Amino acid sequence: MRHRHDDDTWDLATSVGATATLVAAARAVASRTDRRLVDDAFAEPLVRAVGIDVFERWAGGELDLSDDDCRHVLQWFVDLMAVRTRYFDEFFLDAAAAGIRQAVILAAGLDARSYRLPWPPGTTVFEIDQPPVSAFKTATLAGMDAQPTADLRAVPVDLRLDWPAALRGAGFESGRPTAWIAEGLLPFLPPDAQDRLLDQVSALSSAGSRLAAEVFVPPSREVMRPLRERWSDQGFDVEPSDLVYAGPRHDVARYLAQHGWETVTTPLTRLLADNGIATRAAASPFAGSKYYASIRT
Ligand SMILES: C[S@@+](CC[C@H](N)C(=O)[O-])C[C@H]1O[C@@H](n2cnc3c(N)ncnc32)[C@H](O)[C@@H]1O
Repeated sequence: MRHRHDDDTWDLATSVGATATLVAAARAVASRTDRRLVDDAFAEPLVRAVGIDVFERWAGGELDLSDDDCRHVLQWFVDLMAVRTRYFDEFFLDAAAAGIRQAVILAAGLDARSYRLPWPPGTTVFEIDQPPVSAFKTATLAGMDAQPTADLRAVPVDLRLDWPAALRGAGFESGRPTAWIAEGLLPFLPPDAQDRLLDQVSALSSAGSRLAAEVFVPPSREVMRPLRERWSDQGFDVEPSDLVYAGPRHDVARYLAQHGWETVTTPLTRLLADNGIATRAAASPFAGSKYYASIRT
């Protein structure tokens, strides 16, 4: 059965949109257990606002975790989210320290960096995601009286469409160096759409621009099975591995090199080790995930 098609859409409770709620729930758990790595006070209220019961209870620390198989997968996932959140936070903070004042969060989902990072004055942050996702987050945070810490511009558009036009329409200036992130996004795009996205980012990036991207490896159906059964019992029926596009795709670093970017690639196992979580890393079903930090020369 085909689970995705070229013009599919979603909100935060369905299909790819639900993965944004899933990762925000993991950020809420990580924020409670290890603030050293993540401190995202917006994650739990955003997850509660979406209203997927099993994610609300996990985010709130109310989930029964007596089943070992479920607990292990969730712990690996929280570990991944903790170190990846820190990786992308540091990427933006380093870019800001280097003087970059324009940022773009591709596929922002429930990412609250525009509300929680200490952006230098004069920074504009553009957040791109599907219109229902973007509208929900904006309305929910406004309802909480949350104040962005930068000049935040939501750009509600599908990344398979002409998003550069929408971005320019929101005030993006390609002549200024930009810090871009693609966190939790690329495997949800077909391989040719990933190439196109990197082409478009390159075309919009002046010298000195930076890009951080993640290519995550979703756990196998076998690893996910106990968790999926529980989710399904509790009325939530999304299988994350059905939502990604499998098959060969270009390596991000090699592809970007052809477009004038220099890249440092960091495997997830390195990030886990660097953050003192190495003991659980070897068995992690996400261990093949990679992180790319690139600078446009
Ligand atoms: C796993 S979530 C990651 C969200 C966010 N980057 C984070 O880490 O919290 C995947 C996100 O990608 C977005 N996404 C996937 N494909 C997209 C597309 N074609 N256009 C716009 N957004 C897309 C989804 O709406 C969702 O918010």
